[in-house]
Parts: sequence; structure tokens; C-alpha cells
Amino acid sequence: MSEGQIRALSDAAVAAVKSGNLEEALRLCLELERRAPSEPGWPRRTAKVYRRLRLPKEEVDALNRAANLYQRTGDYLKSATVSKQLLEIAPKHPETLQRIEKLRGAAQRRPGPTTVNQRPAISGEWLAQRGAALGAVTLAQTMPGAERDVTRSDDDASIYTIPLEDIVEEGVTATTPLFATDDPDAITHQERGFAVEDAAVLAVEEEFRLAEQTNKALTETSLFSRLPDASFGHLLMAAKVVDVKKDEVLFRQGEPGDTLYVIAEGTIGVIDEGPPRRGISKLGEGDFFGEMALLTDRPRSATILALTDAQVIAIDREMIRELIRDDPSVLTVLLRFFRDRSVQRLLASNPLFAGLSDNDKRALERRFSFLEIDRGALLAKAGTDARGLLVLLAGSAEAFLPKDGGMLRVGVLGPSDVIGEMSILSNQPAMGSVRATKKCFAIELPRDAFLTIVRARPQAMAFITEVIEQRNAQARAALAQNTGNAKITFF
Ligand code: CMP
Repeated sequence: MSEGQIRALSDAAVAAVKSGNLEEALRLCLELERRAPSEPGWPRRTAKVYRRLRLPKEEVDALNRAANLYQRTGDYLKSATVSKQLLEIAPKHPETLQRIEKLRGAAQRRPGPTTVNQRPAISGEWLAQRGAALGAVTLAQTMPGAERDVTRSDDDASIYTIPLEDIVEEGVTATTPLFATDDPDAITHQERGFAVEDAAVLAVEEEFRLAEQTNKALTETSLFSRLPDASFGHLLMAAKVVDVKKDEVLFRQGEPGDTLYVIAEGTIGVIDEGPPRRGISKLGEGDFFGEMALLTDRPRSATILALTDAQVIAIDREMIRELIRDDPSVLTVLLRFFRDRSVQRLLASNPLFAGLSDNDKRALERRFSFLEIDRGALLAKAGTDARGLLVLLAGSAEAFLPKDGGMLRVGVLGPSDVIGEMSILSNQPAMGSVRATKKCFAIELPRDAFLTIVRARPQAMAFITEVIEQRNAQARAALAQNTGNAKITFF
């Protein structure tokens, strides 16, 4: 049967559902199943019609046909989500329970990383912190290769660089999603930036060009590839499948959250509420989101909007904790995405980088390291050169300026605040000091990397000079006022 004929039948089925003629819709869906017997989408549609007709036994049979077809095409994630839907209606369905067993086996056969000895060492203490953010316990003791920065640490408080590049997947290409899918229309990598057409709100002005080269670090990864079969099966059974309709908001920037989502089907938009409001990323099947709130206890950093009808798998913090216990590399992957997505947002939104080309930004992206900072550690020290441009991702810090032989507390710093750019760009020692008042996570761009690129771009440099002057004026005003609580960023 030609593609055109299939489409005509499909359109007729949709029209029949819309007009409430469910008997006709059912006839057409069954016809589609008969004409294109290897396409799992048709029995899925048939199941939906049976649901509306309140015929659960027939619905179960149709879902079973769909789950088997997905499994045959190697689309394990979809097979699992349809199986879960089925088990909600018929919890003991024998064929489905058997299929889940097979899916566990399939999960185990997926490629694993080459550097097995580089796994994070998850301690009992770390696992015992139920309900706490995943990053709450010291990563320096957990992540292999964590390095204490001796120049910026003292006996009580240290700064650690946490390496996140250890795990290299074999046989995984830049477009491999976290789960296999055969759907040619699926987005198999993360697109950066898109225009948001939100009927209720203003259309977003800026449409980012899709980066030709997607960020390898973001895609050469597989979140659950090394889970032991039992854990993968447990995950499939315990996680909740959530249906989201096109244009529906799953959560909004600023809300609290402790759930990670993996996309089973459809396309999801990540939106920065700004201002200006803009789409920052499109995610497709196998991609995940929600790791930032999960790791830090911070509110959601972006709004999540369904760009098509979608199905996502919701995994709560405790479930993730169990997964990390079974496969500690899951933590490394989550941290890596946290770092890379934070870097991308910084480069796209901070005025310091506004004058740089996409190529410059890509070159800089790779140079950021991820830091864990103990409470009490000094992030900048008055009179010494800044080591790099540091951006807080979580935690808080206080800023001090020298005054009358002592140090005057002039402000508080929190997530997204930048430290060190003044010292680096003006080639002067830091004017003041910054001390962490809580454990912090930060990203850091080495001084040289920043300077080399910015100095070669006169436009960027002119802009930055302006920013520096503004911030100097801010600092002078803060000193004059003696307030100590201003929300400022000027180091
Ligand atoms: P969280 O802050 O928990 O909720 C919003 C999610 O959007 C966030 O976690 C990330 O998973 C995702 N996100 C944020 N920034 C980006 C980005 N630049 N690219 C892709 N995804 C992002």
C-alpha cells in the first residue's frame, strides 16, 4: 500500500475520532494495522480507540501488539512504556511480564564504557542521605580523580576540581540517544535553540541557529547503559510514565522539583523565561532533563514545554539514588550534563560573551572545569590575581572589600553570579575577596583561555570595558554606602 493511501486512511481515522464516530475510527485503525503490519504506531492508536469505547480487554490486546512490535524494532524504551501502560490495566499480563524480562536482557547487551576502573566510589554516607540533593555529600570523596586545589585551599576549607570526562562509551556516536530508537523522525541529538510559539505569551524574538556540530560531550553518553539488568528492569517498572500534550507545560522555571525525566517519545522544548524569553534547546527521544534541580536543590532553571504530544518517564530522586548505587557512572553523566548545560547558558546569556562568535563560544565551552567548593573556602582574594572566571552554579558566597584596614562585607553572591572577570580583564589583582558561605558548585574558565579569545576580538573587548566601568562604579557606591547586603557582582 502506498504512503499516500496510508496517510489518507490515517487522516480519515483522526477525523472519525474527532467527530465522535468511534466505531468507524476503530474499523480504520484495524485496517491500518492490517495494511502496515510492522508499524507499532497503529495498534497504539487502536488501543486509544478501545479505551474510549471502554473495552479494556481489547485495549490490552492492542497495547500488547504495539509493545511486541517496538521490541522487534529494537525500540526498548517505547516497548517498555507501552508495556507499563498495559500493566496498569492488567498487572499480571503474562506475555508482558515476560517481555519486561527480555527487555532487561536487551539493556544489558548495550555497550558499556571502556574505563570501568574510573567509577565513582559511592559511600554508604552518600547513599544514606535520603531526600537530600544528589550533590549534597562531598563529591571530592566520591568522584575518581578529584583534585584538591592546593593554592586555594586551607586546612578547613578546600576547592576541588571534579573531572567529568572519564567515561567514554564504546560504539556510541555523536547522535546516539540514551536509548535506542528506530524512528527516523526522532531527534537524535539535542538541538540548541529554537523559536517558541507560545499562544498565550509573546513569540520569542531570537531563533538560534542550530549548531552544525552538536556538543559531543552531551551526546556521547548513555545514562543507563551500564545498569545491571535487574536495576534497569526495576527502573522500567517503578518509574511513572507521564503523557504530555503538545503545548503543555510540564514544569515552569522557578518551581521546586526533584524529578528527572527521560523522553520516551516526542519533542520537548527547554525555555529560559528571560527576559528575553527564548527557547534554548530542543530535546528528543532518549534525552533527559531535570538533573539540575535534582543535583542542587535549586528551583527549576528553565520551563519545559511539550513541542509535540510526548511521553516522558519520571524518575524521582530516591530512584535515581538507587540507580547510582547500582551504577555510579550515572552520577558522572548527570554532573557532566549539569556542567555543560550551565556553560551553554552562561555563554548564551552573559553580556561578557555577547561579542563572541559561535565558533569562539564552542572553543571556550571545552575549557570550563567543574569545581566543588567547601563552605568557608576563598574564591577570590583581595590583592591577588584571579585564577579564572568563576561562575557559581549552586550555593552562596559573600563579597568583601578592604576598608580602613579591615574588610567590609559588601554583598552576597549566588547562582549565576560571576567572580574574577574584573581582575582578569583589567589585568589587576582582585579588588576584594569572596568567601563561600555554603558548599558551592561552580564552573571555571582558566584566565588564559578567556583572555586569548576576548583580546583578539576588539568589539567584545570594547563591550567588556564598558561592563567593567559599570561594575567599578557599583563597587564604589557599595563602599560608600556600607550596606553589606547588596546583590552585586563585581569581582
Ligand atoms: P532543571 O533545572 O532541574 O529543570 C530545567 C531543565 O532544563 C534543567 O534541569 C536541564 O535539564 C534543562 N536545561 C537547562 N539548560 C539547558 C540547556 N542549555 N540545554 C539543554 N537543557 C537544558
